Order: sequence, then structure tokens, then C-alpha cells
Amino acid sequence: MLLLTLDLLVLCALIALSSYHLRRPRQVSFPPGPKPYPIIGNILELPLGKPWETYARWGRIYGSDILHAQALGNHILIINSHKIAKDLLERRAQAYSDRPHIPMIELLDWQNFNTVLMPYGGLWRRHRHIFQRVFRRDIIQDYHPILLTKTNEFLQNLLVNPDDFILHCRTVSAAIVMKVVYNLDIKSPDDRYVVLAERALLAASENLLPGSSIVNIFPALRHLPSWFPGCRFHRVAEACRKMTLEMRQAPSNVVKQAVRSGQSSSSILGRLFEECKKGGKPADEEKVMIDVASIAYAGGADTTVSSVTTFFLAMALNPTVQERALSELDRVLGPGCLPTFEDRASLPYIEAIYHEVLRWHPAVPLCVPHATLEDDVYEGWTIPKGTVVIPNIWAMTRDEDIFPDPETFRPERFLSDTAILEKDLAYGFGRRVCAGSNFASATLWIIIASVLSKFTITRARGLDGQEIDIATEFTDGAISHPKPFKCAIQPRSTKA
Ligand code: HEM
Repeated sequence: MLLLTLDLLVLCALIALSSYHLRRPRQVSFPPGPKPYPIIGNILELPLGKPWETYARWGRIYGSDILHAQALGNHILIINSHKIAKDLLERRAQAYSDRPHIPMIELLDWQNFNTVLMPYGGLWRRHRHIFQRVFRRDIIQDYHPILLTKTNEFLQNLLVNPDDFILHCRTVSAAIVMKVVYNLDIKSPDDRYVVLAERALLAASENLLPGSSIVNIFPALRHLPSWFPGCRFHRVAEACRKMTLEMRQAPSNVVKQAVRSGQSSSSILGRLFEECKKGGKPADEEKVMIDVASIAYAGGADTTVSSVTTFFLAMALNPTVQERALSELDRVLGPGCLPTFEDRASLPYIEAIYHEVLRWHPAVPLCVPHATLEDDVYEGWTIPKGTVVIPNIWAMTRDEDIFPDPETFRPERFLSDTAILEKDLAYGFGRRVCAGSNFASATLWIIIASVLSKFTITRARGLDGQEIDIATEFTDGAISHPKPFKCAIQPRSTKA
């Protein structure tokens, strides 16, 4: 009880403090949005579930694709249109490429480790530079043999145990990244290195949301000691820091060992370590390389799982799309033949399916929030420095002027010229655009093309022989997945 009272006192004091710091009303005009309450702003209206849908609805209510909300004096800008995202995040990238400063990120020391959440600046540039070197479009072909081998293992898993296809999607996504980055062979999501990474990422993600920890709402609390009432977050942060350290060190130690014992470095990290040995690099280069390697897993694995599972869902619901894909594959490759990357340019419909999967359900519907580094004015609206900018990718992929009938899965839209311009929305914008998009594109394409060449995906049937309905539903969270569903995955022929 005493603790509770003290907590409440701290809370009241901090609300009072933050209200003191709130900016006095000035003659500025913010973009339209819900009317803020004194002190707390719109904190009560900020959506918890599927915020991308609420923000799209706000766009219709306020008649604007750019919206403004406030929370405890912080400004939030929501962008529902691709044109505005391009105007701000790409044409004014210098001002819009920071990330929000979330106290828990600093307590976890993630601002020095995680490329995705890192502030715009020198260390972020070094991370991006390494990503650019190892995941450049023309380098991706070095990873084609691994992508083909792991995709074949995936096909075999589907053949042997089709009902567990979601588990196989998780395995193949983790296996591809772990092999390319560390030369580790992963056979299931229960593998030690995958478990270490998933545990650390889950623990951290639970604490990063603005409302998930009291210190994210009242940053001043971070200066209080961990024994102080309400400051349990210090202990949570310490536990997360330990898990993150293990996630970084365990797989990279294997690579270090291999490089030391003179084994040829067939992994990205191995090659980076060898470069480092030659000297002429900053003292902390090895740490930066280890961090980039673990972020490739963190950024790449779950997003890929989401898109591969979305592909299965779309196929189960759309038999005519599959028929058209099969006729293209049979015509170009010959019946039952597996595609290779050399076939990509000759398979426009498969390419269109890949783009439509990303559009129909973008894996990261609200992108990763950007933040402004300076005051700005856009179309007469004031956008103060430090504003959290949320690009609503989901709403952009539902823009009926560009994507008519947006809820329908229709790859044909990507065979037309206008839509092609919009096809990379799912990877984000400007200087913070996904650093692994070329790799993700190769991974998703080969999986989609290979699965379609060998299997037919249909609705599952119950014991009564009737088709089981599939609800097109997706999970909440920064990375959104289709909710578990059943489908029938059968080889196209005995030969296949
Ligand atoms: C379907 C697959 C993927 C999707 C849909 C996706 C989507 C995204 C999105 C929306 C962002 C935020 C962009 C922004 O802030 O404007 C992002 C950032 C990032 N992604 Fe991906 N991603 C995917 C796969 C990957 C892979 C395979 C890797 C690594 C190999 C990766 C590494 C990163 C990194 C490092 C960032 C942070 C970039 C920065 O802040 O500078 N992603 N991704």
C-alpha cells in the first residue's frame, strides 16, 4: 500500500513537471487531428490495437492524409499518403531521418547497437555502410546458392509435413539469415542461437513501446535508483541487456573461432572479421560488425516469416492467381521444373505476386517511426523538431487512387505502369529505408516461385469434406503476421 502511495506521488509529481515543460500555446497551426486535452494531449485516444486502421480512419474523419496528435507534450505526425511520405521522408530526408528517443532504448543500450532504432548520426552511418556493402543488389548473387539450398529444404519440409507450414516458414526465414550471416545451419526455430535471439528481441520489444514502461512516459525517472518505488524498469533493463549481449556474442564467437583456426570464412561476419584483421579500421570496428550481424537477424527473420505466411494465405484464398502463376511457370520453365534466379526476369507474374504480397499485407504496417531533427513547415503546417513521424504504410497500400479495390489480392495491378512506381512501400522511406530490402526481395521471390512450381495451396477440408473457412485476420504489433490458419498444401504431381 505504501509503495502504491509513493508510486502515485511520483506519478503526480511527474505529471506536474511535464505539464510545466509543455510548450505554451503559440500561433502555430498543426495538421488536423483529434483535439488534445490539457497536459495529457491525445494519450487516451492513441490506439492500442491495429493503430494503422485507426490512423486511416482518422484520415477520413479529419479529411487529411497528414494528421497531428500530442502525448504529454510530444508531437506525433501521422502520414497516410505516399506522396507526403516522399515529400517529407525522402525530399527532406536530412530533417526526417532520426528515430524517436525512447528512454528504455537508452537504458538497454540499444541506441548504440540496433541500427533500426539508432539515432541519425555517425554510428548509424557506419552500420548502414556495412549493410550496404554486404547486402548491395549486386552482392546478393553471392548468397543465391544458400537461398536455393535452404528453399529446397523448406520444400521438403512442406512435402513431409504440410500441416506445420507456419513452423516451416519460421525455420526457413531463420535458417537463411543464420547461414548467410554466420554460416550456422538451423534446422528448427528451437535451435539454440534462434532461441537466444528471439528471447532477447521479445524481452526488448515488450519494453520499447511508449506506454510499456513508466520511464518511457516520464523519462526523468531514469535518474532515480533501482530500489526507488516504481523503478523496477532498471532491473528489467539489466536483464534485457544481458540477453542482448548473449544474442550478439554466442553466434559471433563461433565465427571468431572459425576465423582464428584458419577456416575459410564463408559467412558475412567471417569475411568482415578477416577484413578487420588487416588493420586500418577504428578500434571498435569488430563490435560494430558483430552488432550489424545480429541486427540482420533481428530485422530480417520475423519480417520474412510474416511475408511468407501472407503469401500462403493469399494463395489459399485465390486459386485463380495460382492458376495464372502455374501457367507462366510451366510455359517459361517447363512443367514441374524448379526456378533459379536467372529466371526472375522472365517471370513477370511471379514478380507481381511478390509485390502484391508486400502490398496486401505489409509486414511492418506502421513502418518504424522516424523523428524530426529540426523545425519544419509543410503546406503551412508546423512540424516541430523532435516530432515522432509515423508513416502509415498500411494506409498507403489502401490508397484507392493507386490501388483500386485494395482488399483484393490482385497481382495484375503490378503489371501496369503506375502501380510499379509504388511497389516498394513495404520497405519504408528515405535514408532509413530497409537496409536488407535486396536480400529480402531475393529470399521472398525464390520461396514464392519455388513453392508455386511444386505445390498447390488450397483451403483445407474438414472431416465432412467441406472446405474450412479462412478468416483473413492479422496480428497486432510492430511486425504483423496472418493469424494462424489451416490450408492444404499438396504436390502438383507425383513427379513434383
Ligand atoms: C519482408 C521483409 C522485410 C520488410 C517488409 C522490411 C521492412 C522494413 C521497414 C518498413 C523498415 C523501416 C524503414 C523506415 O524507417 O523507413 C525496415 C528497416 C530495416 N530493415 Fe527491413 N524489412 C524486411 C527485411 C529485412 C532484412 C532481411 C534485413 C536484413 C538482412 C532488414 C534489415 C533492416 C534494417 C537494418 C533496418 C533499419 C534501417 C535504418 O534504420 O537505417 N530488413 N525494414
